[in-house]
Amino acid sequence: MSAAVALKTHPRRFDPAAPLQVFEWDTAAYDFQGIYTAHLKETVGCPDIERFHEYLPAERMPKDPVEGTAHTYGHDLLYAIDPAFRQAGFVTAKDRGFIAAYRRLMRFVQDEVFGEPVIFQRLPSLRIHYPGFTSYGVMHTDREYSHPAEEINLWMPITRCGGTATMVIESAIGRGDYSPVNLNYGNLLIFDSALMHGNRVNEEGYTRLSIDMRVIPQRIWRDGRGTFSATAGKEFTLGQYYDRFED
Ligand SMILES: [Fe+2]
Repeated sequence: MSAAVALKTHPRRFDPAAPLQVFEWDTAAYDFQGIYTAHLKETVGCPDIERFHEYLPAERMPKDPVEGTAHTYGHDLLYAIDPAFRQAGFVTAKDRGFIAAYRRLMRFVQDEVFGEPVIFQRLPSLRIHYPGFTSYGVMHTDREYSHPAEEINLWMPITRCGGTATMVIESAIGRGDYSPVNLNYGNLLIFDSALMHGNRVNEEGYTRLSIDMRVIPQRIWRDGRGTFSATAGKEFTLGQYYDRFED
């Protein structure tokens, strides 16, 4: 495994010239970990979110460590964390304030990090990286999956994220020098959506959980009518895939 990406923590504002940058947010102000913990405890009796994999039946895990890992039975359980997702399957989603906290975080990102109005992903993507599996092992840019090129990627740990239990990403566009982003809860990685990224088989022994989302500064936003997110099944338009604050 190559060395981790050198990540510098930026105090406040987003720098459009930096391909990878890390910000910090106040973990006391947005209790994502607490909401995850309460949800997984109630849903599958899991007291420690890094042990989520131990509470899933073996026959509901992917058959292959690389294929079929992006949407698993565990994702169906996890997405019941908020009724807004409507992906709950047979699990009744309880409103624990997850999306409310997410929207407050997006407000922080807009006001404190970007310092200008942004369009943001209406519902974030919830990622699971089980031990012995990838999360999504194919190296890619989201643009290859029809995402608008103007998007800026945001990636946020819920558990520890390090070693093989995290995302790998190139350090500059086209360089192909994939190395892991070692981050902790309370960090927020922002990266250029032209950077290739993916992940490896997790050999760390714990389940990595993270959230990813995308923003576009409103001044360069163009309605992506006619193009769809393959995973979310939503058109890249306001009200479908994206949202913005009205005030
Ligand atoms: Fe991606």
